[in-house]
Amino acid sequence: GTRASSTNHTKYKEIISTLPRIEGRWRQSQQLHEYQGFWFGQNILEGIMSAQEHLKAQPTDIFICSHPKSGTTWLKALSFAILTRKRFSYSSTNPLLSELPHDVMPFIDILSFTDITSRDPELPLLSTHMPYTSLPKSIVECKCKIIYICRDPKDLFISLWHFAGKVRGTSAETFPLEEACQKFCEGLHNYGPYWDHVLGYWKARLQFPERMLFIKYEDLQNDTFSYVKRMAEFMGCPFSMEEERQGLVQKVVDLCSFEILSNLEVNKSRKHSSAIGQYLKIEKKAFFRKGKVGDWENYLTADMAATIDQITEQKFSGSGLSF
Ligand code: A3P
Repeated sequence: GTRASSTNHTKYKEIISTLPRIEGRWRQSQQLHEYQGFWFGQNILEGIMSAQEHLKAQPTDIFICSHPKSGTTWLKALSFAILTRKRFSYSSTNPLLSELPHDVMPFIDILSFTDITSRDPELPLLSTHMPYTSLPKSIVECKCKIIYICRDPKDLFISLWHFAGKVRGTSAETFPLEEACQKFCEGLHNYGPYWDHVLGYWKARLQFPERMLFIKYEDLQNDTFSYVKRMAEFMGCPFSMEEERQGLVQKVVDLCSFEILSNLEVNKSRKHSSAIGQYLKIEKKAFFRKGKVGDWENYLTADMAATIDQITEQKFSGSGLSF
């Protein structure tokens, strides 16, 4: 209840005050704290500590995991549309037409353990940006299924830089690209370093292949249709021959496309997301920018691109992972 939460709040604050700390710069007066090998702002870190202490995952739970800006909104929409295809038609009753994809499932990094009971009993989806090694123990112990999405670090960085500007509400010059790039390369942003985030889930996939579906944003763009079928199989609800004949796979692809979602009234709205909005005062439309592969070319200098690529090569060398 409330009393337990406020006691915890004080407890987490005390722990956080002992952690290594640095000025973030992505947001106004943002302090980042180093915890279990990654950097987090205070609010998020309290949520993570609470989830680590209290979250009781069920074996049937399916987790949508990602680093921010790697395609989370899209993956949430797709997984929701696939799992609820029998409940909601693709007409006006589908919640994806009236809610931001982030708001159709709980986000455990900010939910207190009491709120989780208010979830839709028929929907096994939960989401998190936590690094694999920081996931609440019960998720791993229950052998929950995990779908992870990641993206070329250069595109992710450009997406992150734009998003941070919207969160700050100030112009790009207040946090120049060059300085942001340096911070990104040092892993100094929420949930950073990005490369370690990806590697954590990649290693888990090698260890538990049946529990993990690892998707690259670029591959998903390239062949969304196949991935929708693969996601459905992975989540235990494959499309039947009859459903395929009815064109249901393509309906999911179309409903969740950037063009459709980004043009819905709800997603053009300046209102805050109810899930994410609890700690991030950000308008819904900020989750839809371009939705393209390779947009980094319009922003990064050759030097910045080379620096990021070098880190990618070095960090992923020998892992079998590349972009
Ligand atoms: P860009 O900033 O490169 O356009 P996240 O959802 O993890 O916050 O990631 C946001 C990125 O995914 C943004 O990338 C956004 O435009 C893109 N995106 C959002 N919805 C999408 C969709 N339905 N299809 C493809 N990309 C999408």
